[in-house]
Amino acid sequence: MAQARDMARRDEGYAREQDAGDALAWCRELFHVPPAPGGGPSVYLTGNSLGLQPKATRAAVEAELEDWARLGVGAHLHGRHPWLPAHESVREPLARLVGALPHEVVAMNSLTVNLHLLMVSFYRPTEARHRIVIEDSAFPSDSYAVASQAAFHGFDPREAVVRLGPRDGEATLRTEDIEGYLAREGRSVALVLLGGVNYLSGQWFEMERITAAAREQGCMVGWDLAHAAGNVTLRLHEWGVDFAAWCSYKYLNSGPGAVAGAFVHERHTRGAAEGQGSKAGGDAGALPRFAGWWGNDPATRFRMGSEFVPVASADAWQLSNPPILALAPLRASLEVFDRVGMASLRAKSERLTAYMESLLEARLGGRVRVLTPRDRGQRGAQLSLVVPGVSRDVERRLHERGVVVDFREPDVIRAAPVPLYCTFQDVWRFVEALAAILGVEGGTGGLGR
Ligand SMILES: Cc1ncc(COP(=O)(O)O)c(C=O)c1O
Repeated sequence: MAQARDMARRDEGYAREQDAGDALAWCRELFHVPPAPGGGPSVYLTGNSLGLQPKATRAAVEAELEDWARLGVGAHLHGRHPWLPAHESVREPLARLVGALPHEVVAMNSLTVNLHLLMVSFYRPTEARHRIVIEDSAFPSDSYAVASQAAFHGFDPREAVVRLGPRDGEATLRTEDIEGYLAREGRSVALVLLGGVNYLSGQWFEMERITAAAREQGCMVGWDLAHAAGNVTLRLHEWGVDFAAWCSYKYLNSGPGAVAGAFVHERHTRGAAEGQGSKAGGDAGALPRFAGWWGNDPATRFRMGSEFVPVASADAWQLSNPPILALAPLRASLEVFDRVGMASLRAKSERLTAYMESLLEARLGGRVRVLTPRDRGQRGAQLSLVVPGVSRDVERRLHERGVVVDFREPDVIRAAPVPLYCTFQDVWRFVEALAAILGVEGGTGGLGR
């Protein structure tokens, strides 16, 4: 009763009360919030595109520059964060973030590069089983990556790449339709590669169910977690996912072009050191991969031999020594996630996004269509909106008012209240600004979806 009365309140005072009672309010102080054109902090709802800079980042990068100046090559062993095992310093926090065992994750490269490196190992097409299933609204880079992989193996991408779309009149893909496709055609599918949270619609796929359905048909299952890592709760190990990759510049706040992450389930790396290509079955000994010296067992890496001995972990997919200046922001950012914990972040995120949805419904019902699923279990922080006819113009006019959202072709506005640094008042200001732009004084009625 009290909750229903609260939800019906649409005034700024209600938003302020929620912020005052927010146990995570202190987190916002850890970040630089860009100023709005008219002064004061902007309403930053694009952490799904580029997360904000943690205040600790600058010192973390400067420490590496100082160690380089002070120690030169000696910083490999004697730096404050010795460079030699630098990627290992982010291993455990990354594993916690995606629900993996520590030896199942590695920080390296960038996202599309990692997808390719992992597909070298996990897309092993045969004549009978060579299809790759993606979502029709997959991020373009993923579309290009899978098409080029199919072509590389001599298949026609127009036939090999299967793009699953929503039913007519619907905005998101139903889990049962993915399962249905796999039950019918799964034996021709070599790889299912979906975005954990779709970049355009904000739909969080039912990853556990889809992974199980694909594996039952003998398909490999990979996830692009660009919009999922640091946003939703992930249990990659438990769900039996074969591989995953993500970038770190969105919800992980590690800066433009930040070092990405990769996950390989441990069942694929057991026995890795026993030699590549020598065994049948599901272990790393049998998996082909592109190799480089940083994927070699560290125990023998510096013997400088010519024979590659893969380390029995996700590290085996590393090629080069890690970019130290780029790893520093990732380490600084992951410390924030460890301090706060994904469970409390996710709980706040659900409340913020539900609040945004309820305000949009109350103030702009009928004028704005929300594409993102209503079910909290099928979305992360982001809501994707369509304002028929004027979406692009709305983005620009919101920016003028200090509200940062983004527009994606053909007509989608994405708004993500990120729980680490967004407030309930931010959400209120966004919806009020949108109402003002659309010339809406008051509002009732259901929200178009
Ligand atoms: C879902 C998704 N996949 C892939 C990419 C490409 O990432 P990168 O440029 O780091 O390879 C992006 C970038 O925004 C993305 O959102």
